[in-house]
Amino acid sequence: MKTIPLKDGQTVLLRESIKSDASELVDYLQKIGSESDFLTFGPGELSVSVSDEEAILEESYTAKNKIMLLALIGNKVIGCLHFTGGVRARTRHTGEFGVSLLKNYWDQGIGTTMVRELIQWAKDSSVIRKLNLRVRSDNDRAIFVYEKLGFIQEGLITREFCISGQFFDCIYMGLSID
Ligand SMILES: CC(C)(COP(=O)(O)OP(=O)(O)OC[C@H]1O[C@@H](n2cnc3c(N)ncnc32)[C@H](O)[C@@H]1OP(=O)(O)O)[C@@H](O)C(=O)NCCC(=O)NCCS
Repeated sequence: MKTIPLKDGQTVLLRESIKSDASELVDYLQKIGSESDFLTFGPGELSVSVSDEEAILEESYTAKNKIMLLALIGNKVIGCLHFTGGVRARTRHTGEFGVSLLKNYWDQGIGTTMVRELIQWAKDSSVIRKLNLRVRSDNDRAIFVYEKLGFIQEGLITREFCISGQFFDCIYMGLSID
């Protein structure tokens, strides 16, 4: 658990999610689709029910190679980071994550702190040995954050996104945990 003071006097709480966060998280996911074209879903495209989300949160909380981190102001979710490790013995040490914040809260250090928390969790996990992500190649802010924290560009995948008929490439990035 960690707190981040904002310039406007509010305090953001970072913590691992629990099952009862499902409803607030579903509300959050409905909002962010319309706030950025850097995510894999747009406005109205993500329809997760509260009970589906409860199952995801329970699984993330229980599994040793999964985590859902939330950024909260009061009980309102303003950001989330979800890391999922592999299912099989040969891939359970590695996995991919996605991170997002409501636009009002960008550029205040919250995303950096969330990814830092993920790295620390991975180091403490004794299971995770590699963190991976995919990022749109024109998402300069996110790439800046990942590189600042030691992630390395490992490859380019073309035509990963198609938005209104336009293709966008993605970069694979990764961080070894030793
Ligand atoms: C990407 C995201 C999670 C980053 O979180 P954040 O809290 O906004 O980022 P931070 O404030 O911690 O750090 C942003 C840094 O990028 C810098 N930055 C901002 N715009 C930038 C740009 N266009 N190019 C390069 N750097 C930029 C900021 O100055 C800041 O630098 P600093 O750490 O030296 O102060 C958040 O902006 C977000 O949710 N974006 C939309 C969804 C998204 O893109 N998710 C990632 C998908 S892979």
